[in-house]
Amino acid sequence: MTSANASDRVYIFDTTLRDGEQSPGATMTHEEKLEIAELLDDMGVDIIEAGFPIASEGDFNAVSEIAKRSKNAVICGLARANAKDIDRCFEAVKHAAQPRIHTFIGTSELHRAIPNLTMDEMAERIHDTVTHARNLCDNVQWSPMDATRTEWDYLCRVIEIAIKAGATTINVPDTVGYTAPMESADLIKRLIETVPGADEVIFATHCHNDLGMATANALAAVAGGARQIECTINGLGERAGNTALEEVVMALKTRHDIMPWTTGVDTTKIMNISRRVAAVSGFAVQFNKAIVGKNAFAHESGIHQDGMLKNRENFEIMRPEDVGLAGTSLPLGKHSGRAALRDKLEHLGFEVGDNQLKDVFVRFKDLADRKKEVFDDDIVALMRVGETAESDRLKLITLRVVCGTGGPADATLVMMVDGEEKTAIEKGDGPVDAAFKAIRKVYPNTAHLELYQVNAVTEGTDAQATVSVRLEEDGNIATGQSADTDTVVASAKAYIHALNRLLTRRSKTGEDTKEISYKDQS
Ligand code: KIV
Ligand code: ZN
Repeated sequence: MTSANASDRVYIFDTTLRDGEQSPGATMTHEEKLEIAELLDDMGVDIIEAGFPIASEGDFNAVSEIAKRSKNAVICGLARANAKDIDRCFEAVKHAAQPRIHTFIGTSELHRAIPNLTMDEMAERIHDTVTHARNLCDNVQWSPMDATRTEWDYLCRVIEIAIKAGATTINVPDTVGYTAPMESADLIKRLIETVPGADEVIFATHCHNDLGMATANALAAVAGGARQIECTINGLGERAGNTALEEVVMALKTRHDIMPWTTGVDTTKIMNISRRVAAVSGFAVQFNKAIVGKNAFAHESGIHQDGMLKNRENFEIMRPEDVGLAGTSLPLGKHSGRAALRDKLEHLGFEVGDNQLKDVFVRFKDLADRKKEVFDDDIVALMRVGETAESDRLKLITLRVVCGTGGPADATLVMMVDGEEKTAIEKGDGPVDAAFKAIRKVYPNTAHLELYQVNAVTEGTDAQATVSVRLEEDGNIATGQSADTDTVVASAKAYIHALNRLLTRRSKTGEDTKEISYKDQS
């Protein structure tokens, strides 16, 4: 029999909407999840892990809707090792043309202690739950969580049980980002050689980035025989994140000479989805991030620029166009129309519908009125900031701040709170402090400011500032972003954006909290 792991094709399993969305503060709205799923499907991702249906009504609804709208991708949902989770998961994914149930349990000694199961009891649970899942769905993925720290003999034993019970994909997670490339390759290779039935299933690799080796470990696992890579856009995920989709896909494309495996991903869609995920998750991409960072294709030093002009291959191993990044082009100004803006957005890799264009155009005009030239990076910032929604309970109307040497700053703020106009005048230690105090006066809250970050988008004193604000309240975390040529206004808007997101979460508390525990297996 030909081994399921012998083909050259590597399946890309994207878990941005499940593992990625699990990272504190990365919560996305229902509409945002649908949008990201559509982009993933369009770019040729093979399997989309759309969420954890039992975790909340919100997760369930998002997975169901993504399943209904899916075109080519397999739609997968996560379930713990119990019948209730698995049933709920299938209820959500069953609408897809190609549904998949992904069920898991922690198999290492440390993780077995959580539900307090003996090795035998856990083996029986695995048999029962995988059988249950397979009776519902032909496509079942099973994961021994913390596989890389699970005793070898036990790992082989439970994988064999899962295969016999009907699992079609065996995922081998490096849950805590502990493995290293040589070990990762060797583990998959030995499992395929050792476990009876291994050649009839696909082996998958799921790596976390705690030691910064997630992408290397995933590619090494492929060398060992894995044919499914689990990853997220921008490497989003808990702690240090996951294997980044863009990194594995571009590494396989660029170094096909030594890694002769292919994916079905259209790499020219990478920049667009990377920017959308950064915008909706509130997790900005670090400038020097491989492939999708602002500096990934920038050449600053004279020697590099000179080399680039002579032959770009001197300093570029990939073409920016390959990831959907167009070369720089002429700036727009206040006389530019909607068509020019659409053209520019397409040039930058953003696909916008008519409604989104309308919204961006308003913000573009507002910016162009205040800024002589609107550069590409300004447009990217416009696309990244959190848009205000009709449903927002808090809206900034006006803000005036008097500040300078010799005294505290004075902020006068007018805001809409649930449709009612409110005003506050507050003093602060600097303009941002005064503005934030005024917001808290108008809308008293106990949210703790965890992060306040300002970046200049372009050069010059009229450059836009992008501001990120992260708030925490009773374990709920929300991130807000805004961009404006006025840093204080951008800060106030980002704070209000984060508060609106926190309020949305608060209104769903009990349903939408992610505090579901892996321990609750029964
Ligand atoms: O990291 C992990 O082990 C997981 C499992 C749920 C597959 O995300
Ligand atoms: Zn994970």
